[in-house]
Amino acid sequence: MPRTIDWVDGRIVMVDQTALPQVRLVIVDTVDGLVDAIRRLVVRGAPALGVAGALGVVLAHRTLDGPGRDAAIARIAAARPTAVNLAVGVRRAAASDDPLAAALTVRDEDIASCHAIGDRGAALLAELCGPGPLRLHTHCNAGALACVEWGTALGVVRSLHEAGRVAYVVADETRPLLQGARITAVELAEMGVEHRVVVDGAGPSVIARGLVDAVVVGADRVAANGDTANKIGTYPLALAAARAGIPFLVACPESTVDPATSSGASIEIEERDEAEVLTAAMPEATRAWNPAFDVTPADLVTAVVTERRVWRPGP
Ligand code: MRU
Repeated sequence: MPRTIDWVDGRIVMVDQTALPQVRLVIVDTVDGLVDAIRRLVVRGAPALGVAGALGVVLAHRTLDGPGRDAAIARIAAARPTAVNLAVGVRRAAASDDPLAAALTVRDEDIASCHAIGDRGAALLAELCGPGPLRLHTHCNAGALACVEWGTALGVVRSLHEAGRVAYVVADETRPLLQGARITAVELAEMGVEHRVVVDGAGPSVIARGLVDAVVVGADRVAANGDTANKIGTYPLALAAARAGIPFLVACPESTVDPATSSGASIEIEERDEAEVLTAAMPEATRAWNPAFDVTPADLVTAVVTERRVWRPGP
């Protein structure tokens, strides 16, 4: 699998995540092209969006000037509201005299962070659950394809798997866009990790049946108090994990922790097009709600694992 996102010959090259399991590259050289790719989830996952945002500023500098450039940079930052990394990546590149160097630093830091998160998360799970082999549960895709490479939650799985300490991974399919069934499953199969995809509604009861030792998820934004926004369907897993008395870990880079957001109540939850939920078989009068994320309260989070620390925000 090529890198999820990179800068090649003055253009942004991305693995098209709408096409997986077919591997197809999308190349963009304009801000409009990038904003469209972000909105359509060609590139997705908080860390990858951070790199996309930073590289987008480079495109803006190369193709626009004056107020048009400023407006374009603001449009990139606002293309998806919940994943804080997008705005952070934009800000870092926009504040630099050399946006390309800054963007490449965001890219390289993400790679290094993921490896550190993976190793620290693996060590923490050994401490909490014993040496394994462990039965893990994850949601959405927090793997190499949500970052530049390696992954956050799946980075923990990779580190454990390299040490022969994974029994299997339960991957929620992740409604409505199937990031788990399409993207996480591709990564787990590539790693050679035994895995089962379950429908989102089955996740909590799989935990209640005692089939899981720990839940490991990524994050789109962690508030200063530890409340964690992640793909819709994460919160029920946290409730089930608390009820079952198993660890619920959030694995993310420090750049996902947002000190400016005091609690989950201030996190903007992206509401996506209801067409992603509705099908032709439904009555015409049927409407949908399509929140893309939910917030897990800090008291349900056993630990947030970043490249720098293990943070236990709960009571
Ligand atoms: O809508 P998506 O696919 O961008 O949502 C992604 C998630 O919710 C991930 O779990 C999160 O960004 C962590 S990625 C390392």
